[in-house]
Order: sequence, then structure tokens, then C-alpha cells
Amino acid sequence: MRSEIKHIVIAGAGLMGASMGQIFARGGYSVTLYDIAPEGIDKARELVAINQRALIEQGGVSPAQSSETLSRMSYAMGMEDFKKADFVVEAIVENMGVKQDFWKKASEAVAEDVVLATNTSGLSITEIAKAVRGPERFCGMHWINPPHIVPLVEVIGGAETGKKAIEIVRDLALSVNKHPVMVRGDPKGFILNRIQFAILREALHIVDNGYATVKDVDDVMKYGLGMRYACIGPFETADLGGLDTFYRISSYLFADLSDVKEVPESLTRLYQEGAFGTKTGKGFYDYGEGGAERAIAKRDRDFLKISKRLYGDSEKTEK
Ligand SMILES: NC(=O)c1ccc[n+]([C@@H]2O[C@H](COP(=O)([O-])OP(=O)(O)OC[C@H]3O[C@@H](n4cnc5c(N)ncnc54)[C@H](O)[C@@H]3O)[C@@H](O)[C@H]2O)c1
Repeated sequence: MRSEIKHIVIAGAGLMGASMGQIFARGGYSVTLYDIAPEGIDKARELVAINQRALIEQGGVSPAQSSETLSRMSYAMGMEDFKKADFVVEAIVENMGVKQDFWKKASEAVAEDVVLATNTSGLSITEIAKAVRGPERFCGMHWINPPHIVPLVEVIGGAETGKKAIEIVRDLALSVNKHPVMVRGDPKGFILNRIQFAILREALHIVDNGYATVKDVDDVMKYGLGMRYACIGPFETADLGGLDTFYRISSYLFADLSDVKEVPESLTRLYQEGAFGTKTGKGFYDYGEGGAERAIAKRDRDFLKISKRLYGDSEKTEK
């Protein structure tokens, strides 16, 4: 399998693909962002410009470094660049059928030794791999939104993934200063989304039962758990708190936590109304005119502050 990587093709120039492209380009790789929709390409250019401006304003990169990053990025609606790809990562729509259709074509279009990865949020890698020519070179590479700031990347092997492919993807993540974590057994949702959605299920349960408002739950996370979890994980927290105490709390609390199997009515209703959050201007909160852009900009500013403080400058120095 090809471990020398110079040119990377990212399929799906959306929210994730556009951001991942900047990380690879900043790390010295030449990047093609491929999308089937012209709007996808236009939006990607816009997103990249917004992200780069924010990074410059925050002192994350200099204007010269930013122009160099941009000079390594190109955009395409045809699959010609797949032929010269040394690595392909896919970030298209989260749908098994669409992903399998894409991978059938893409794995035929690239050289046989090129490692391939999907950024699926939690679909089975083994299942997607059924459409791939050479499934031993295929694995999951799950980035976290916004990928140009958050350090974690989950690397997931499917039933047929070879050890070498996992190593190549792990090394690629390390080469752009990301923090890879290996996921074994291809569990749905991998690790991050299993934890994230366990939290969301309990947060909905709390609000639906009237124990707290949406904002109060967000405040508990931001001012309590979130601050803690930026520094120590749940096992470190338990060790520091005392496993005797954590055992006793678990023995009466676990049975009271939500274990619903269906999506709760409150979230279903918002989904059916088309209230998708910042992308439509309304979700759990109402964003009003310009509110969504302000929320995204504030998130990125705050994340960058934490990132700089805890991990130093996570932006890659030139390769
Ligand atoms: N948004 C997140 O927070 C997040 C986090 C981690 C992983 N992911 C995963 O990343 C993937 C992309 O998510 P996103 O939020 O960037 O979506 P998005 O809707 O912003 O972008 C998807 C892009 O893929 C393009 N596309 C669709 N079908 C295609 C095809 N067959 N070939 C080429 N391009 C195609 C669309 O035109 C669009 O531009 C999904 O699998 C998602 O689950 C998303």
C-alpha cells in the first residue's frame, strides 16, 4: 500500500471536506476538493475563505502562510484527479447507498495501492467496504467538526481492513498534527458519537421532563462537564473523584437514566419542521438575522483559544 503521500483527493467539498482540505494543504499536501454539485464547490470556496480569515485574525496563521495553503488547494467536478491521488478521503452525504455508489466508482478510478478512507460519522465501515475494489485498503477516518481546529481523528478498521492501511492513515493524521485514536470492532457511531449521543439522549430527557431548560443544560455542560472534559476524560474523572463514590452513585443513578430506543418527540418535531439549527436559522435556539454566522464565529474563536492554550499552536509547520 502506498505510504508516500503527496496528492490528496477529498470527495465532498461540504462543511467537513472544505475544512479537512485546509488542514492537509497547510501540512504541505496538494489537495483536490471534488464535489458533484457546483453549489458545493462555491460553498467550499466561501467556507475556506471564512476559515482562513478567522485563523489570520486569531493569529493562528500569517497572511503569507494562508496564501500558501490556498495555493495548494484546487477544486474539481470531474474525477480526473483521482488518477494521480496518493490518498482519497470521502466526506459526502451520510447515506449508505450514496457512499457505496461513490466508492464503487472511486475505487475503480484510483491506483490499486492507494489507501482510501471515509469520514462517515458512524455508518459501518465493513458495510461501505463491500462496494470498494480492494477493501483491505479501506478504513474510517472520522474528523470532528470543525476539523481545522479540533485535534481528534478516529481511525476505524472494518472487517477486511489491513493493518497497513490503518497505520498509513494514523501516520497521515499525525503528519498534520492531529491526535488519532484507533477504534476496534467497527461499532456504530465509533467512540465519540456513542458518547456524544448518550449525552444528547439524556439532555433531551432532562428538558422533556422539565428538570431544566435547553439553556440550563448547555450551561451545565459549558461551565461544568465541558471545562473538565477538555482536560481529563471520564475514567480520569472517576479516578480523581474516587471509585467508591462513583460506584455508589452508579448503583442508584444508572437505572434512572434515559434508555429510550426511539428519537424523542421533541427532536423529531424540530426535524419535521425543518428547524435544523444554524444551517436553517432555527433549532433548539432561534438565531435570527446574522445569528447563525455569529454563533459559528464565536464557537471557532472559543475553540481556537482553548486549542492554543491546551495544545499550543495546532497548526502544522511546513513539511
Ligand atoms: N457535519 C459534521 O459535524 C460532521 C462531523 C463528522 C463527520 N461528518 C460526516 O462527514 C460527511 C459529510 O458531512 P458534511 O457535514 O460535510 O456534509 P455537507 O452536506 O456539508 O457536504 C456534503 C457534500 O458532499 C457533496 N456530495 C454529495 N454526494 C456526492 C457524491 N456522490 N460525490 C461527490 N460529492 C457529493 C455535496 O454536494 C456536498 O457539497 C458525512 O458522512 C457526515 O456524516 C460530519
